[in-house]
Amino acid sequence: ESIPVVTIDGPGGSGKGTVAMRLAERLRWHYLDSGALYRLVAVAAMDRDMDVDDEAGLGTLARELDVSFGVHGSTLTVVLDGNRIHGRLRSEPVSVFASRVAAVPAVRDALVDRQRAFRQEPGLVADGRDMGTVIFPDAELKIFLTASAEERAQRRYKQLKEKGESVNLSRLFREIEKRDERDRTRAVAPLRPAEDSHVIDSTDRSIESVLEEVLDLVQKSP
Ligand code: C5P
Repeated sequence: ESIPVVTIDGPGGSGKGTVAMRLAERLRWHYLDSGALYRLVAVAAMDRDMDVDDEAGLGTLARELDVSFGVHGSTLTVVLDGNRIHGRLRSEPVSVFASRVAAVPAVRDALVDRQRAFRQEPGLVADGRDMGTVIFPDAELKIFLTASAEERAQRRYKQLKEKGESVNLSRLFREIEKRDERDRTRAVAPLRPAEDSHVIDSTDRSIESVLEEVLDLVQKSP
């Protein structure tokens, strides 16, 4: 019997991060925020002035990344190179660079085992772009969460505003579209629903109602 995994993939702003974290809390399972790993590689590369063309260097960086995660209630704490990372991980420049770094095959390869190591008793909820397709193809339940690009830009806008960042909605919309396009069209592990996934559209729906639907699916899955 393998350890159970629920995968939640989808584009940024679809609500997958919140749904995945709340689901893990409800089930008392472990939680993997795989996007945070790509964001951390981006932060570490930016700190070292590395170029996105330096494939070998980025691969090594991803492999040797000194990082640890802790979940306390609904906040995720991340420590990189011994320093706690705060708001920077979710900032726009890091989002953009993370999606570029995530298209580098050596980086993706380097993170495979690190992600699979999160699969521990009693179970795992894994959130990302390729959790159901590449990292945990044998997951018992796969969710693909979407929402319209307008809705996702609005949600992101609200989030950044609340954090006191100055943002422009139409620019954010364009950046989200560009990032989605890059994630969907890259050669390795592109963003797409696994064939056996349940596709849920969260446009005009609350996080609570999506969470209840997913919990229901978990209860019905083998
Ligand atoms: O989910 P999040 O927005 O934090 O992810 C940041 C970036 O990391 C995404 O735009 C995507 O390019 C990349 N990513 C990925 N594969 C994953 C998770 C994230 O390529 N499993």
